[in-house]
Amino acid sequence: MFENLMAQPADNIMALMGMFARDDRENKIDLGVGVYKDKTGLTPIVEAVKIAERHLLNNQISKSYVGLLGSLGFIDQMVDLTLNKSISKSRIVGAQAPGGTGALHQLFLLIRAARPTANVWVSMPTWPNHPAILKHLGLPMKSYRYFDEMTCSVDFEGMCEDLNTAAQGDILLLHGCCHNPTGANLTIEEWTEITNMCLEKNLIPLIDIAYQGFGDGLNNDVMGLQLMASKVPNMMIGASCSKNFGVYRDRVGAAIVVAEENLAAKLAEDNLKSLNRLTFSFPPDHGAAAVELILGDPELKQKWQTELEEMRKGMLALRLNLSKSLREKTKSDRFNFIADHRGMFSRLGLNTRNVEILREKYGIYMVADSRINIAGLHPEKIEFLAESISKVL
Ligand code: LMR
Repeated sequence: MFENLMAQPADNIMALMGMFARDDRENKIDLGVGVYKDKTGLTPIVEAVKIAERHLLNNQISKSYVGLLGSLGFIDQMVDLTLNKSISKSRIVGAQAPGGTGALHQLFLLIRAARPTANVWVSMPTWPNHPAILKHLGLPMKSYRYFDEMTCSVDFEGMCEDLNTAAQGDILLLHGCCHNPTGANLTIEEWTEITNMCLEKNLIPLIDIAYQGFGDGLNNDVMGLQLMASKVPNMMIGASCSKNFGVYRDRVGAAIVVAEENLAAKLAEDNLKSLNRLTFSFPPDHGAAAVELILGDPELKQKWQTELEEMRKGMLALRLNLSKSLREKTKSDRFNFIADHRGMFSRLGLNTRNVEILREKYGIYMVADSRINIAGLHPEKIEFLAESISKVL
């Protein structure tokens, strides 16, 4: 039977992780998969999470099922974190899901149930798993221009031109902050323009927010999202806690729906509940329970925010230093944009051959489209990286 299966294309990011693990060179540098690393190269467990886990260990008295939507307390905290009173809670419902990917998956299923013929518009480029899951679920998909390869910044004119051709009722998938893979983000003025376009054309935004707190700060990173939520009648949010709480393997995510009125919100909630039941029954609890504890305890929340700020500032410093070092080594301003980008990623604008040489000759691993994970870079490796890049240009 299994011989009838089609061979599956490898996921580029996952394949790169495997290649890096098999490389036995000591000086190799992993700028591939998006995980935060500290100066020792470790992806540390956030101290606030450790404290919350200890609390769970000592106080949790049952491992029985929580509910098909997961913990409503967790959902409530995630709604506060992302939407922070920008709209009435009577219009908001949500479901816990396994990670940000799980949340997006469940929202895609909800879209398919509610509006099967709507196109889902994805940015060009986008996180490769967006189009992959949409295709897998059979949802119609279209792309809009987003990134200007020449300036390595947002091609806002191209984006608007393409979205102007969208049909009434189409879905617009946006990155809430820290665009993956480019690192180039919309300004608040651009969020306003896109919001107006959503209103005019009745586009329904779906915001993937996986890096809140990694860009310009916990609250600044959701300003665009909140502005949009305060204006549009319907909206969806797929939020991930993998990166900002460092709970990658625990799979913590929330699928949030904002509906025009309470009745529609309740319908969406019912459907999310049923979709969870059909997909995995109950979402995993442990990581979400830790996040809920942190967000519900002012002292612990403050501790987490301090740790998150340290990560963010570390990434900003790496950005500034890498862009400076590249300016010196290449004797050009070509890579200045690295300092302006935000979040874990920047797309460097190197060609596939450059990327291959960097990997084969220098042991520097980045995604084939030249996306680097800034947070994977050790400060002492900046000069070597800049020097190596300057040599392959
Ligand atoms: C990435 O883009 O590297 C991360 O979001 C990890 C993943 O699942 O692809």
